[in-house]
Amino acid sequence: MMTYIPPTHIETPDGLVNILQLTDLHLSADRQKSVAGCQCQDSFERCLSQALSENIRCDLILLTGDLVNEVDMSIYQRIFAQLSATNIAFACISGNHDVTDELYTERPFSERQFVAHAPDTRLLSHHRIMANGWQILLVDSSVPGKVHGDLPLSTQLWLTQQLTDCHLPTILVLHHHIVPVQSQWIDAHMADNAEQIWQVLRRFRQVKAVLCGHVHQESYCYHEGIHVYTTPSTCYQFKAYSDDFAFDENSRPGYRWLQLGNNGALESWVKRLDTW
Ligand SMILES: [Fe+2]
Ligand SMILES: [Fe+2]
Repeated sequence: MMTYIPPTHIETPDGLVNILQLTDLHLSADRQKSVAGCQCQDSFERCLSQALSENIRCDLILLTGDLVNEVDMSIYQRIFAQLSATNIAFACISGNHDVTDELYTERPFSERQFVAHAPDTRLLSHHRIMANGWQILLVDSSVPGKVHGDLPLSTQLWLTQQLTDCHLPTILVLHHHIVPVQSQWIDAHMADNAEQIWQVLRRFRQVKAVLCGHVHQESYCYHEGIHVYTTPSTCYQFKAYSDDFAFDENSRPGYRWLQLGNNGALESWVKRLDTW
């Protein structure tokens, strides 16, 4: 296994930090394998290369979980090799699919089986990146054997400690969403203890944004004074506002940019693949 050291400090010459969020890659050991009609490996590679060919310098890449669709170390080897080849700092956290294999996916959800796995050791359980006057806090919300998320007490305490120690504008990054996206089936699989996470966040006014994956769709809300973003997956999309599970076949794979200014300014936008 190649050595991987996650970044702890990002400094740029122009006072801006440009972050690329890629989420929910759902890659398989077989590169050609399609999931829900999408060739996830190809789609991920196209998202990465389109983003890095844009007229914007990328200072940090964040992968926010569900990197794989089946837990297999060879897939992580491939992802880490591809990300290392960009020569851009990157950090990855787990999603449910990184710690849970879903069996019998052709059956209704209630009849599927869920098998727990330990996360790949390079996926971060909690991690802080200081970036030009911003604090970026990554936490692992995944629960082996489960689809929903949960932030353990130890991680909540770590989060509280970071926010007590550092008053710089802060972004919290995790896989599971902590504000409903008004889609009943996926809102049943949020972070279970979202309210406890909000109890921590509302104590600290420097928290400016929360960044999630998991929902395979773009969403934004301004909740309790905090910008809350979710991001399209790099592969198949879920239909927004659907109470039952449904794919959104009209939405292309995509990714999100965040631009942090050293004056505390924050901008964010989503881009979709130019072509299918
Ligand atoms: Fe996902
Ligand atoms: Fe997920």
